[in-house]
Amino acid sequence: MVASATRGTVPESAGESIQGTGQNARQVSFIPAEELVRESLLAFTQNHPQLKYVFFGGKGGVGKTVMAGAAALWYARQGRRTLLASTNPVHSLSALLGQNVFGAERQVAGVPGFYAYEIDTADTIKRSKEEIREKIRWFLKYADIPTESDAFVETATMNPSFEESAMFENMINIMFEDKYEVYVFDTAPTANARRLLGMSKVYSLWVEKMVESRKEAQAMRLALSFRKRQEKDPLMDYLISFRGRIGQANRLLTDASRTAFYFVTLPEALPIAVIRRFIGWFHDFGIPVGGVVVNGVIDPGVISASTSEFVLNRVMMQQEYLAQIRDLFPDVRAVVPLFETEVQGLKMLERVAEVLFR
Ligand SMILES: Nc1ncnc2c1ncn2[C@@H]1O[C@H](COP(=O)(O)OP(=O)(O)O)[C@@H](O)[C@H]1O
Ligand SMILES: [Mg+2]
Repeated sequence: MVASATRGTVPESAGESIQGTGQNARQVSFIPAEELVRESLLAFTQNHPQLKYVFFGGKGGVGKTVMAGAAALWYARQGRRTLLASTNPVHSLSALLGQNVFGAERQVAGVPGFYAYEIDTADTIKRSKEEIREKIRWFLKYADIPTESDAFVETATMNPSFEESAMFENMINIMFEDKYEVYVFDTAPTANARRLLGMSKVYSLWVEKMVESRKEAQAMRLALSFRKRQEKDPLMDYLISFRGRIGQANRLLTDASRTAFYFVTLPEALPIAVIRRFIGWFHDFGIPVGGVVVNGVIDPGVISASTSEFVLNRVMMQQEYLAQIRDLFPDVRAVVPLFETEVQGLKMLERVAEVLFR
C-alpha cells in the first residue's frame, strides 16, 4: 500500500533512520485509530444502556487488568455503583489500585461508588471443598451407603476443573447478590475463562441428568415402599436449586443486552491469534462478544529524524499488525496507546479510562 499524507505517513524527516530498515519501510502506511474503530466503546456502551456484566479477556500481559480497572473507574465516575472483581488467581488489583482489596469487597479510596475485590482463590476452593464434603457425607448417609466419604471427596476435588468450577460458582454468587449496578470482571487468562464459561453449559446438562436419575430412583423407592408417601429428598432439593442457579447464570451470561466480553490484544502476532480463537469459542457458546480493545500502540507521531532503528522497527511492525486487526475484527472499540510508564494508581487509570471511552 502506498503511503499518503492523510494516512499519516512516515515523515520525510525520518527518512534517514528508515533507510536501515529497507525500502519497504517507507511504504507502510500509518493506520489512524478512526480507521479501526467503527463503533467506539463509548458508543457501544451508550447503545447498550443495560450492560451490567463486563468482562475482559485475552492473552496474559496484554492489559486485561488495566482495562478492567479503567472501565470500572469510568462506570463509577458515571455515578454507577461498580464492582471491579478479579477471578484471576494471579492477583494484581491491589497493585493496580495501590490499595489492599484482597479477600473482601472494599471501596476504592477517593472514588465514590467504586468497589474492588480480589477473590481469595485458596479460600474459595477450601470452602467449596468443605461444602462438597458435607454433601457427599449427607448423600452416603441418605442412601445408606456405609462408606467413608473421604475417597469420594478426594476424587471430586483433586482436579483442576474443580478449582475452576469453584471460582465460577463464586463469580456467579457475586453476580446474584446484585449489590452493584455494574460488575467488571478481570477474567483469568483465555483457556481458563473458556472452560469457566463452557462449564455453565456442562453443569446444566449434568444437573439435568442427575435430576432425571434422581426422579427414577425416587419413583422406585416409592414403588417398593409400604408407605405410599414421598419422603423428603434433600439431594433432589439441592440439585433443583442448583439447576435454577445455573440456568440463571446461563441467561445472564448469554444476554447481549446485559453482558459483554471484551478482548484485549496488542498489535502483535500471538495476542491476536489468541483472541481470534477466543472469539470463535465465544460465538460457539452463544456468549456475547462486546468487541476488541487494542492496547500498547506506539504513536507514530513520536518518530523523528533521530528516532532509533529499534523504535522505528517496532512502530512499523505494529502498523502491520494494526492492518491485520482492521481486516480481522470489525468490532474494535478502542485503541489505547503505550504509555511512558506502566499503569498504576488512579491517576494513570484515569488516563487510560479517558482514551478507552473517548
Ligand atoms: N497502555 C499501556 N501503557 C503502558 N503500560 C501498560 C499499558 N497497558 C498495560 N500496561 C502494563 O503492562 C503490564 C501488564 O498489564 P496487565 O493489565 O497486568 O495485563 P494482564 O492483566 O492482561 O496480564 C502491567 O505492568 C501494566 O501496567
Ligand atoms: Mg491481569
